[in-house]
Amino acid sequence: MSETTGRDLSPRRSEPVIMTEIVFPQDTNHYGTMFGGNAYAMMDKAAFLAANRFSGTMAVTAATERIEFTTPIKHGMIIDIVARVIHAGRTSMIVEAELFCQDPLTGDRQLATNGYFTMVSIGADGKPVQIPELIVETDDERAKWAIGEEIRQAASARRSRRNEA
Ligand SMILES: CC(C)(COP(=O)(O)OP(=O)(O)OC[C@H]1O[C@@H](n2cnc3c(N)ncnc32)[C@H](O)[C@@H]1OP(=O)(O)O)[C@@H](O)C(=O)NCCC(=O)NCCS
Repeated sequence: MSETTGRDLSPRRSEPVIMTEIVFPQDTNHYGTMFGGNAYAMMDKAAFLAANRFSGTMAVTAATERIEFTTPIKHGMIIDIVARVIHAGRTSMIVEAELFCQDPLTGDRQLATNGYFTMVSIGADGKPVQIPELIVETDDERAKWAIGEEIRQAASARRSRRNEA
């Protein structure tokens, strides 16, 4: 328990958040496939939910990395966004978000978009606040933590270069 805020800061695992949507015509571009900005907005929302469930705080998006749109998503498809905290620092979390699309009639499902969101926990004053430690136990969790660490280092180097410029 934090002495200053009374929040529970005990180490914990992260659970995936699954957000399900359907793609309507207004979500698409002029090719009839999902507009990337809409897919991104849904992934960002799911990343917020994962960050909030893990930390119990409000959070803002500080950076997004390696967003890849690999499969066009037709209107009428069902999409599941699976978001999970894979790395946690003192106040920031890296959330992996994967967007799967599914044909509602055949059930065929595939990964269409994936990316990483750095979410920073903030208090009522908008300033970063401490979050719990992430428990990492399995090989898969360790591999994902390593990806998160790589992203964190790259973001830190980018900020240093920007501050020196
Ligand atoms: C994100 C934000 C709260 C960080 O505030 P700050 O005073 O720069 O915070 P700090 O320098 O103390 O860094 C706090 C944490 O955020 C991380 N961080 C800050 N800027 C970052 C960036 N651009 N990319 C990745 N991580 C970042 C730091 O590494 C640090 O992590 P740690 O505590 O786990 O070590 C602030 O920049 C902000 O409010 N940005 C706007 C966010 C927003 O409005 N998002 C919506 C999208 S429009």
